[in-house]
Amino acid sequence: MPAIDDRFHELHAKSLTISQEAETLFPDGVTHDGRKFGPFRVYMDHGLGPRKWDIDGNEYIDYRTGHGSMILGQANPAIVKAVQEQVAKGTHLSASSELEVKWGSLVRELVPSSEKLRFVSSGSEAMMMAFRMARTHSGKTKIIKFENAFHGWADAPFVGAAADNHNNGIPQGVRDTMVVLPYDIEAVEKALEGGDIAAVVFQGNQVMQPSFIQQLRDATTSHGVMLIFDEVVSGFRFSRGGCQGLYGITPDLTGMAKILAGGLNGGCVTGRADIIDTIAPGKIAHPGTFNANPLSAAAGSTALEMVKNEPIGEMADARAAQLKAGINDILQRMEIPGCAYGVSSIVHMRLGLDHECDHEYCTEGEQAMMVGSGAGDDTTALLAQAVVNEGVWGGPTSFILSSTHTEADIDQTLESYERALNSVRSEGAI
Ligand SMILES: Cc1ncc(COP(=O)(O)O)c(C=O)c1O
Repeated sequence: MPAIDDRFHELHAKSLTISQEAETLFPDGVTHDGRKFGPFRVYMDHGLGPRKWDIDGNEYIDYRTGHGSMILGQANPAIVKAVQEQVAKGTHLSASSELEVKWGSLVRELVPSSEKLRFVSSGSEAMMMAFRMARTHSGKTKIIKFENAFHGWADAPFVGAAADNHNNGIPQGVRDTMVVLPYDIEAVEKALEGGDIAAVVFQGNQVMQPSFIQQLRDATTSHGVMLIFDEVVSGFRFSRGGCQGLYGITPDLTGMAKILAGGLNGGCVTGRADIIDTIAPGKIAHPGTFNANPLSAAAGSTALEMVKNEPIGEMADARAAQLKAGINDILQRMEIPGCAYGVSSIVHMRLGLDHECDHEYCTEGEQAMMVGSGAGDDTTALLAQAVVNEGVWGGPTSFILSSTHTEADIDQTLESYERALNSVRSEGAI
């Protein structure tokens, strides 16, 4: 068997050339830190359903699914049609559109806490605006967030999301407005008692016992503080109504993006009408060239219609359950300590960590890790390469499913994943 790295080079000759050129253009050769890949990046050409193909002609089963935005799979015919029709009619008419009203109505229909909303262009913008609304409505300054939670890359939401040496450029004044806590309800209660708290923000796709999320709701309610859910990933995925629909817990404000815009760019902040109405003269101003642009509105309203009327989430959930069970079986057979766990249609893995868990809300230690690997970074990097060599485009320790993955796709993925683990083992890494 050729070494993993040799095989990776053999398979991706064209990507290597483009990768070298990209390094002269972009920091680390990428336009999103999450797309860094060693020893070089693989360049994708096109996708269809759950599959995609790179510029060297290699085929993959996709588990990154547009960073979670493509629950309908790549090039879904209904989305293609809606976007094609709209592109021919104009992509920006610098005016309000009927489509944005249709799109907004669907959000309100599907998301339990939604009374009113405002569209923005990304999840980062949605969270930025949610914070600004919470501060304006409450007249208070500080936001409580949880360690390592990711709420986009804007200044305040990014505080506490990355290592201290990887979040430079955020002024101390902004850092002082954020209270970063462990997932510990007593710590939250104590901080709430300290006063000047505008809101508590929770990342909806964080794997957490629902009882903890309910405690957050109870604690914020009793202190008269807003609860914000970041449903950028969990929205329209964990259920039609997102994590709030799944757990039956109603936040005051919610930030959304990804599935919302049907695979194009777009976000929104939604929730209580009295909070959303802080966008008003004398309160908050809100421009934004591409807010609810017709292309995103066409794709987004088509996607939400499908989420509403078809078993999109249910199909993705079923395939995720199959994948999770299959990976846990492989780990057991190969006697590799670790687990596959997660909620709804996202599967996470921990490798190298011997522990008991229920394969759903696996919260190793005090704090749940969203994507975690107990194995060393080198092992994870080698596994990432091995998995790509085997035609699986995934974490390699996280998988985001779509409604287009079939049972046969999962069977094929499990065979490929086992081969990848074996090739890593044959190099002595696990
Ligand atoms: C939970 C969460 N919040 C916010 C964001 C930011 O969204 P965007 O990348 O659209 O700015 C992301 C992006 O991955 C996310 O995962």
